[in-house]
Amino acid sequence: MIKNSVCELLNIEYPIFQGAMAWIADGHLAGHVSKAGGLGIIAGGGMPAEILREEIKIVKSITDKPFAVNLMLMMEEVAAQVEVCIEEGVPVVTTGAGNPAPYMAKLKSAGIKVVPVVPSVALAKRMEKIGADALIAEGTEAGGHIGQLTTMTLVPQVVDAVSIPVIAAGGIASGRQFMAALALGANGVQVGTRFIVAHECNVHDNYKNAILKAKDRSTVATGNHTGHPVRVINNKLAKDLIQLEKEGAPAEKLEEMGKGSLRLAVQDGDIVNGSVMAGQVASMICEKQSCQDIILDLMEDLKNKITHFKGSY
Ligand SMILES: Cc1cc2nc3c(=O)[nH]c(=O)nc-3n(C[C@H](O)[C@H](O)[C@H](O)COP(=O)(O)O)c2cc1C
Repeated sequence: MIKNSVCELLNIEYPIFQGAMAWIADGHLAGHVSKAGGLGIIAGGGMPAEILREEIKIVKSITDKPFAVNLMLMMEEVAAQVEVCIEEGVPVVTTGAGNPAPYMAKLKSAGIKVVPVVPSVALAKRMEKIGADALIAEGTEAGGHIGQLTTMTLVPQVVDAVSIPVIAAGGIASGRQFMAALALGANGVQVGTRFIVAHECNVHDNYKNAILKAKDRSTVATGNHTGHPVRVINNKLAKDLIQLEKEGAPAEKLEEMGKGSLRLAVQDGDIVNGSVMAGQVASMICEKQSCQDIILDLMEDLKNKITHFKGSY
């Protein structure tokens, strides 16, 4: 294990988290990331608690290394998912879309490390105060639901505001970006989009190919008007949503159009009418690889870039 505060805190080999991705990050993907020495994360999303238990069992059948479950706090299944995490001895929980305060004491007294995703300094401070073990500071470059600040500006401000480890997320898919995150003061990185094209990721091939074909300006944010922006690869659905937003369509109508659209892209491979969530970094992802190769590649690339940097200054 390398000497790193995140690795030591979570007992993992490399400070690389595979980002939770609703409908995508299942036990199979998370298990293979953890087996390779990163932190695999099952996306709890709106998963019924007993399905979550099955996904946790899949991870355990692949590896006995640490892994995490991501709880999306606005989902009604969360309370039951928390019980399953405790019963199954899940070592780490990451949280998104809300405040984990109602579950914090319970999770921590079960020995679970809690790592909230934060889009702002104010939330970062609040999370540290209520006992978070570390934070994931996610910039607006990321795929999926996003905040407003870029990784470049959010990470150093969060690092300066708290004294717990910070993991940078959003726009990280190479050693250069990994090194930049460390330079900003992060102790590790969370990578989402690059893991979508992993061999062990069960997403439809059309989705993977959409990422491999993406260009620098292929992603857009929909939902800016509803207050719930989502970064996706631009397609018919995204164009329709943005047009309706411009016309001032009510938030309920837009939410209704978005319902089920991620599943449509992930499972049916409908990348025209489905929501192809992906980060701005999609254009830098050029090949399908195993989880192990992605992790080793990131570490090797990081080492080379650090050596190169030291040699030039
Ligand atoms: C398809 C997709 C679905 C996502 N779903 C979730 C989720 O359910 N919970 C969560 O906390 N983050 C979610 N995210 C964010 C990722 O966990 C991660 O932070 C992000 O992808 C990192 O940025 P990158 O895409 O530039 O690598 C999602 C991202 C993508 C691309």
